[in-house]
Amino acid sequence: MTVFHITTLAGDGIGPEIMAVATTLLERVAEQHGFTLALDPRPVGGAGVDACGEPLPAATLEACRASDAVLLAAIGGPQYDSLPRPQRPESGLLALRAGLGLFANLRPVRIVPALIGASSLREEVIRDVDLLVVRELIGGIYFGQPRGRVVGEDGEERGFNTMTYSSSEVDRIARVAFDLARQRRGRLCSVDKANVLDVSQLWRDRVTALAVDYPDVELSHLYVDNAAMQLVRDPRQFDVLLTSNLFGDILSDEAAMLTGSIGMLPSASLGASGPGLFEPVHGSAPDIAGQDKANPLAMVLSAAMMLRIGLGQEDAATALESAVDRVLADGYRTGDLMSPGCRAVGCRAMGDQLLAALA
Ligand code: IPM
Ligand code: MG
Repeated sequence: MTVFHITTLAGDGIGPEIMAVATTLLERVAEQHGFTLALDPRPVGGAGVDACGEPLPAATLEACRASDAVLLAAIGGPQYDSLPRPQRPESGLLALRAGLGLFANLRPVRIVPALIGASSLREEVIRDVDLLVVRELIGGIYFGQPRGRVVGEDGEERGFNTMTYSSSEVDRIARVAFDLARQRRGRLCSVDKANVLDVSQLWRDRVTALAVDYPDVELSHLYVDNAAMQLVRDPRQFDVLLTSNLFGDILSDEAAMLTGSIGMLPSASLGASGPGLFEPVHGSAPDIAGQDKANPLAMVLSAAMMLRIGLGQEDAATALESAVDRVLADGYRTGDLMSPGCRAVGCRAMGDQLLAALA
């Protein structure tokens, strides 16, 4: 029987609760579809700091590199916010992404029919929304040098970061987006701020030049401010959205709200080769951690993306996604999605319903 080696990174806050739901379901679905998952839990983020004094322990990165795929829940918490930047949980996540060369972050935004009323936007605006944010993940202002804080001779302090992309960095993420657009509805919208930023003008020039290789893809460009507006004005116009690291971070949280809750959005981060990293877009929600209130659905949908993209187990992935649709159609809701007439459940009970739906 095929055995897949998965490094699981539960992390902080609600991370361990939602990871427990996902791993239970993964083990069941593997059994049902005739493969085995060897799960290797490792500390990362605040849990890494607590266990080893650093947010990305070397042994964790090694385990990730040696596995077939990496499943991450969430990192961060207020108790770590005052640590020096290299020790913060977020730095561990960025180091993990960079360490695995995961330049392409895919964030699909799909409306679950049962949740259409949970969105803060009107039904006619969001019905049938099906878009994919392709975010560059290991470049741009998140990683650009120089960066830092300096005190000038006048005693004034200045903070700075550098937004930088090389042509090859733009090309490799743009090709991923063009390829995905080709497999979907054939439309690609590249987001930049080329009216102001030189780095964005290079971005736009490279993406435009690549379009000759994809005559079947319809390419458009939007400035990021306009893209933010269009996402809530008429999100159905979008198929694939291509963004830099920072713009994609912001726009994907915005796009998540089309689905009713950021607790619904999964993601996949991929490199040129090696294991991918699969994680929900949301954070560690320290305010509800340990209270069995978290919504595990984005985590479960991330596990489904891992099965499909990371392990090539399409049927098992579809089974997990159908289970999610099913429990929502049956009216089960965690607090973030609750609406009148629905059945309120906690994280564990939601997991039990999903398990039952898999049977
Ligand atoms: C995300 C998160 C991360 C990011 C944080 C936790 C570093 O917001 O994955 O969108 O900014 O990339
Ligand atoms: Mg974010």
